[in-house]
Amino acid sequence: MSVAVRFNDIRKDFGPVRVLHGVTFELAPGRIHGLLGENGAGKSTLMKILAGYERASAGEMLVDGRACSFGGSREAEAAGIVLIHQEFNLAEHLTIAQNIFLGHEKKRGLFVDDTAMRREARALLAQVGLARGPDTPVRELIVAEKQLVEIAKALSRHARLLIMDEPTATLTPAETARLFALMTRLRADGTTIVYISHKLDEVEHITDDVIVMRDGRFVAASATAGLARQQMANLMVGRELSDMFPEKTPAPADAPVALRVSGLAVPGWVEDLSFEVRAGEILGFAGLVGAGRSEAFEAIVGLREKRAGTISVDGREVVFRHARDAVRHGITYLSEDRKGRGLHLDLSLQDNLTLMTLERYGRPLIDLKAGRRALEAAVREFGIRTGDLSSRARMLSGGNQQKLALAKFLQPDPRVIVLDEPTRGVDIGAKRDIYFLIQRLAASGRAVIVISSELIELIGLAHRVVVMRAGRLAATLTETQLNEEELIAHATGTH
Ligand SMILES: Nc1ncnc2c1ncn2[C@@H]1O[C@H](COP(=O)(O)OP(=O)(O)OP(=O)(O)O)[C@@H](O)[C@H]1O
Ligand SMILES: [Mg+2]
Repeated sequence: MSVAVRFNDIRKDFGPVRVLHGVTFELAPGRIHGLLGENGAGKSTLMKILAGYERASAGEMLVDGRACSFGGSREAEAAGIVLIHQEFNLAEHLTIAQNIFLGHEKKRGLFVDDTAMRREARALLAQVGLARGPDTPVRELIVAEKQLVEIAKALSRHARLLIMDEPTATLTPAETARLFALMTRLRADGTTIVYISHKLDEVEHITDDVIVMRDGRFVAASATAGLARQQMANLMVGRELSDMFPEKTPAPADAPVALRVSGLAVPGWVEDLSFEVRAGEILGFAGLVGAGRSEAFEAIVGLREKRAGTISVDGREVVFRHARDAVRHGITYLSEDRKGRGLHLDLSLQDNLTLMTLERYGRPLIDLKAGRRALEAAVREFGIRTGDLSSRARMLSGGNQQKLALAKFLQPDPRVIVLDEPTRGVDIGAKRDIYFLIQRLAASGRAVIVISSELIELIGLAHRVVVMRAGRLAATLTETQLNEEELIAHATGTH
């Protein structure tokens, strides 16, 4: 039942750019293998080769001792190898059940057997813990739910080797726990699992072995037990990582209020939310998934209808009918849904970067050279790894897309910047860079709002943290009150 894999000197070139430089290692059968590496290290590319989405340029891949080269994902699936994509691959307009069985429709005679598919979809959804009916259109789902549909879809293929590319990036702790229980069950049934994640605590918890890649090369393999988290991190980045967070500056008590929100109500999501943030302040937003944090800010910047509430920027009341209005008033919002709202994956890096400044000034950027210079500066400042500056955003690795999105939303030089899960999918070295960047933004007088489900991030960065629960403000904690227990208690209502 279990599948063993050996990679032998695998290379991969995209045009003139080599991204895998002869990777050699083995995956023992029936185990959970953690695959670690910085953004752009080549993890997803190697796994796409294994699952038939890409072809190696050179080298050999042995599956159960036999040389294999899959011409497509269907061939890999026939060999029992299934990949859950880092960036979702769902058809938005189809239902959950239709997505799960897309291309593998169940038939009775000549006809598609909807009843059987719905029945099996329901069972799969129960397994992954998604409380939605099989007929729900995927476009109605939030990001975490889409991830669970991806997992259900992979399970329906009865994989013997299951590759999960950052499956928990969008999941809540409870959903993650359920996924881990499922992985443990699958392993007991003999499934081999590759688990890619930047969350080292999870890697430590769930994996049997750890494999580390760096710059398109294999670096190390080790049993997970006995490998400290810090060692994993050092192997990934190839150097010692010092303190993750910058030293905190004092909260700017007398600075002017940059953004004030009063009595915000968003139908179905938010009731009576009021808060303010000062210039130079880092204000955190904590809460469970579904607490209404993203929805509140979507409404604030004009991406979503609000029912009530006033918004003032620098003491003057404003009305934003469109996100463009907010950008013009110096507020940008980096959505957590970077694929849907953050980036245009089929545009070039440069077009992505300069798009918001176009919106702000409402005229085409005449100076293309200036655009190119801006891109070069962003690549430097944000450490965006790309072999080719003229490529499309789609070509970037997941974490590097996130860095590009950050750079893009800072281009208009906002005075208030809202970052929704800014370090999701970002490697540990780049995370640290983003924390220091946020600190610099605040120190230069900008107000920074950070929405995050990583409590440690809010505790390490924020001057104050607003906790939301079920659409309402549950508490505002100042620096001295900030700790995990306190945040969790307010977020869950067990205070
Ligand atoms: N289709 C493509 N065309 C050109 N370059 C590509 C393509 N796909 C990936 N790359 C490049 O290959 C390198 C490795 O990318 P990959 O997605 O494998 O990284 P990763 O280790 O999965 O990173 P992350 O942790 O950010 O997901 C990156 O530099 C990326 O830009
Ligand atoms: Mg990846």
